[in-house]
Amino acid sequence: MDDLDKAAGEIMACRLCDLHLKRTFAVPGEGNKKAELMIIGEAPGKFEDRAGRPFIGMSGKFLTGYLERVGIRREDVFITNSVKCRPPENRKPTMVEIEACRPYLIRQLKVIKPKLVLALGTSAANSLNMAYKQLNDIRGKVLRTSLDGADFDVFVTFHPSFPMRFPSKRSAFIQDLKHVKEIIGDKNSIT
Ligand code: URA
Repeated sequence: MDDLDKAAGEIMACRLCDLHLKRTFAVPGEGNKKAELMIIGEAPGKFEDRAGRPFIGMSGKFLTGYLERVGIRREDVFITNSVKCRPPENRKPTMVEIEACRPYLIRQLKVIKPKLVLALGTSAANSLNMAYKQLNDIRGKVLRTSLDGADFDVFVTFHPSFPMRFPSKRSAFIQDLKHVKEIIGDKNSIT
C-alpha cells in the first residue's frame, strides 16, 4: 500500500475538523496515480458526499466535458479537493478547515508528483498557499508553490461552477484549459 492509499484510509476516518460531523462519506479523491495533471477543486457537494467520489455532480459533469474538449481525459488525471468533506449548505470551506486538510493534500501531491497542478478557484489556491488579492491576479499562468519542502508548478483558473453559471466566462475557462493541455503535452492525448 502506498501513501496515497494510506492517506485515503485516514481521510475516510478523519476527525481533524468539524466537517466530519455532518458528512456521509469523506471524498479523498480519485484517478491516475501517475497523472501528469492533478486537479484540485473546492469541496465535495451533495452528490460527492453521498458517493464518496469527487466531481460527479453538475459542476463535475461540466468540468469533465470541458476537459474532454481540450483533449484531457478524466481517467488520466488525479482529482481531489481542498477539503475532503462536504461543508454544510455547500458553504465555502474556512481557512481553518483548509489548513486542517492540507497535510492530506500534500501527501497526495508528494506521491503523484504531477507535472502540473490545476487549482480550480480560491479555495484550491488557498489550499496550495498561493498569495493573491484577486483570483485574476494569479489566474492563467504557471506559478510555483512550495509545500512542506516540495515545489510544485500550479496553474490557477476559475472553479467550474463560475463559467457554468456565467456563460460569458466560458471562453476564458476553455482558453485556460487549452493552456494547461499545452503544458502537460500530448501524452495520452485523445485527439
Ligand atoms: N464537486 C467536487 O468534488 N468539488 C468541487 O469543488 C465541486 C463539486
